[in-house]
Amino acid sequence: MCGIVGYIGHRQAFPILIKGLHRLEYRGYDSAGIAILQDKIKLYKTKGKVSDLEELVKGENLSGNIGIAHTRWATHGEPNNENAHPHLSPSGDLALIHNGIIENYAILKKELLKRGHVFLSDTDSEVLVHLIEDIMINDKVTLVEALQIALGYVIGAYAIIILSRNNPDLLLAAKKGSPLVIGIGKDEFFIASDATPIVEYTKDVVYLKEEEIAILERNKDLKLITVSNQEKRPYIEQLEMSLSELEKEGFPYFMLKEIYEQPRSIRDSMRGRLNAEKGIVSLGGIIDYEKNLVNAKRILIIGCGTSWHAGLVGKYLLEDLARIPVEVEYASEFRYRNPVICEGDVVIAVSQSGETADTSAAIELAKSKGAIILGICNVVGSSITRVTHAGTYTHAGPEIGVASTKAFTAQVTILTLLALRLGYIRGTIQESRYRQLLFELETIPEKVEQTLKTFDIIKNISNIFKDSKNFIYLGRGYNFPVALEGALKLKEISYIHAEGYPAAEMKHGPIALIDEEMPVVVIATNKGTYQKVLSNIAEVKSRKGKIIAIVTEGDVAVKKIADFVIEIPETEEMFVPLIATIPLQLLSYQIAVIRGCNVDQPRNLAKSVTVE
Ligand code: M6R
Repeated sequence: MCGIVGYIGHRQAFPILIKGLHRLEYRGYDSAGIAILQDKIKLYKTKGKVSDLEELVKGENLSGNIGIAHTRWATHGEPNNENAHPHLSPSGDLALIHNGIIENYAILKKELLKRGHVFLSDTDSEVLVHLIEDIMINDKVTLVEALQIALGYVIGAYAIIILSRNNPDLLLAAKKGSPLVIGIGKDEFFIASDATPIVEYTKDVVYLKEEEIAILERNKDLKLITVSNQEKRPYIEQLEMSLSELEKEGFPYFMLKEIYEQPRSIRDSMRGRLNAEKGIVSLGGIIDYEKNLVNAKRILIIGCGTSWHAGLVGKYLLEDLARIPVEVEYASEFRYRNPVICEGDVVIAVSQSGETADTSAAIELAKSKGAIILGICNVVGSSITRVTHAGTYTHAGPEIGVASTKAFTAQVTILTLLALRLGYIRGTIQESRYRQLLFELETIPEKVEQTLKTFDIIKNISNIFKDSKNFIYLGRGYNFPVALEGALKLKEISYIHAEGYPAAEMKHGPIALIDEEMPVVVIATNKGTYQKVLSNIAEVKSRKGKIIAIVTEGDVAVKKIADFVIEIPETEEMFVPLIATIPLQLLSYQIAVIRGCNVDQPRNLAKSVTVE
């Protein structure tokens, strides 16, 4: 986790760094800090958010055109001023910011303590900057050489930027495991954890690769070397992101903006991939591995959190349409057991950020066992997109709210297209049914648009249940993952305890929780197990639970017994998750707003979970 940003060039660094930190704040907001080089390194850091840092530096002279800044999600050491980055070397000549974890920091620290080093923080990152300076002094080597030697000792993950008082025209950066992007302007360089702080200055970017060190020197070309001292040629790519995608555009929170973007993001995820008129579904990014998928004995989907929920919808779709057995695994579990991977298995990794540490580790494990790995990611150029054999982007655009919304529906859209494509090629869907499904899928963005109009009803419901202590979410079949996703959204942004359950499982335990205080959100759309869900609702009602039901427009039966209904447009059962998720996103959003929660930056969370 953590966001890091650096600048070297002819402009004032401070405004670029602060703006960059705001853009990266989704990565962590436990503390923030900045270092600007004047005749010495000027350092300011504080517990809290970037706005607290801005408050701290008010009135200070922070002029200078080289600097680094950091926003932290605490791993080693509690969130306080001392543990905030940047960290200084013993002489104060080097300042370092770090995203990642130095796993062997304790051993390194012990050695350094023996040599008389004094540490001001509990962080692994401070150990690294001490180590670099120690090597420089004792081995009498340059900063770059010391960095190479130090990184050779390090076990773990890092994206670091180093500012040096004695090298006023130089910034150094290095990456392993955690992401780092360099923006190349005219006589200036920007460097950050992702491209969002860079996009308004330049579209030319270089994504650092594993164990690469970038040497950013004023008025010189970018130079790349590796930790083991090989020279590398920078591969410059063009950013496709636009600035407006990073602004709230009138919405009070990014999350609400992103919920409202879903008609567009679902359409964008289908664009060029679905043509119902011609009966075509194509996923260009994975075309070279289509045969592996078509002949797969089994598909394994791995992911975390919301991406895991999308994977579960994917399982239902792929088994239903393509008749391929699918298993959905939590990446964090998969990586630490001894999973069976057989010849003919294909692994699909689902990740919005493309940086999730557990998912990356699960990919490495599956790869080492010989599996073909495909990715479904949202962030272009992210780490996971670089380690998979092939993949498909979701095209949801940058998702900044920590709670995932549009990325989920975009992931489900891609999995839907994949299931349709495989079903068609494998002949497990009849041509006429296939065509019918394609036409229906094309109407989904419009139906999502219509569903967004339920917000007023949802606002009323939110007022009534804002103080509830617990919620239960129920759904069956395709609506079970929707129930899980609805419960996760409520938990993470409103801090209300919520459980998602398969509706019929309720009678095996959770029914004991039902009383007049318990709101139960039921996804009760009119296909599949509708009649059965109706009985599950009756079971809740007879125990005085309060039913909030998501129903199909024109529903009669549920309306008679539910306390509140939210109507959504009718669609095929397998496409309902794309629509039914929307009111649940709005419900959690609105309850969180009423409760005064920070919707975009919920406590203890971060957008990219790059640590275990
Ligand atoms: O970036 P990823 O999709 O790999 O992230 C996985 C989870 O960390 C993520 O979905 C998390 O559960 C979100 N906060 C959910 O809103």
